[in-house]
Amino acid sequence: MKNLRVRIISIALGLSIMVFAGAGFAAEPLKKDRNRSHIEIDPVNTGTYTGDAGKDNYIGNCSPCHGDTGKGDGPLADTLGEGLKARNLSDAQLLSARTDEFLFKVVKSGGAAVGFSEAMPSWKETFTDAEIKQIVQYVRNSICMCKYKAK
Ligand code: HEC
Repeated sequence: MKNLRVRIISIALGLSIMVFAGAGFAAEPLKKDRNRSHIEIDPVNTGTYTGDAGKDNYIGNCSPCHGDTGKGDGPLADTLGEGLKARNLSDAQLLSARTDEFLFKVVKSGGAAVGFSEAMPSWKETFTDAEIKQIVQYVRNSICMCKYKAK
């Protein structure tokens, strides 16, 4: 009798652990939702991003080709193919001729979407739109230190 009770208790325990584990698994955030701790969206000025929110994502994902300072001299820069270079994102003259929308599109949809080389990957599976905006903002604020200037 005593043995049976122990067995029932341990089965119940095992079941509840499984339920808990299941709940934990379901609550596991989607891939895109992880890594978001550094996002600082200004709640008043929607679309205005402060701080270095895009920095980690830039350094982790763009630096390999574009380089930490954007000069197009990252460790993968020489592997892209004959005569092909990662664009120099610190070139203020070049980036002043680009709208934020254009930069957003290149990053989200990749080089091929705007007639550039497909060696510039699409990041839409990696980042949310908000994260891409932050990366563009980081490029503006800290890499080219420039804004779009209409000619
Ligand atoms: C695998 C290498 C590689 C990685 C990683 C990469 N890029 Fe690029 N990127 C390129 C290449 C190559 C070009 C230029 C394509 C061409 O010349 O046709 C380019 C072009 C660009 C341009 C266009 C600049 C212009 O002239 O308007 C932007 C903006 C850009 N990249 C941003 C980024 C950002 C932001 C990231 C990270 C999220 C990133 N790139 C990651 C290779 C890369």
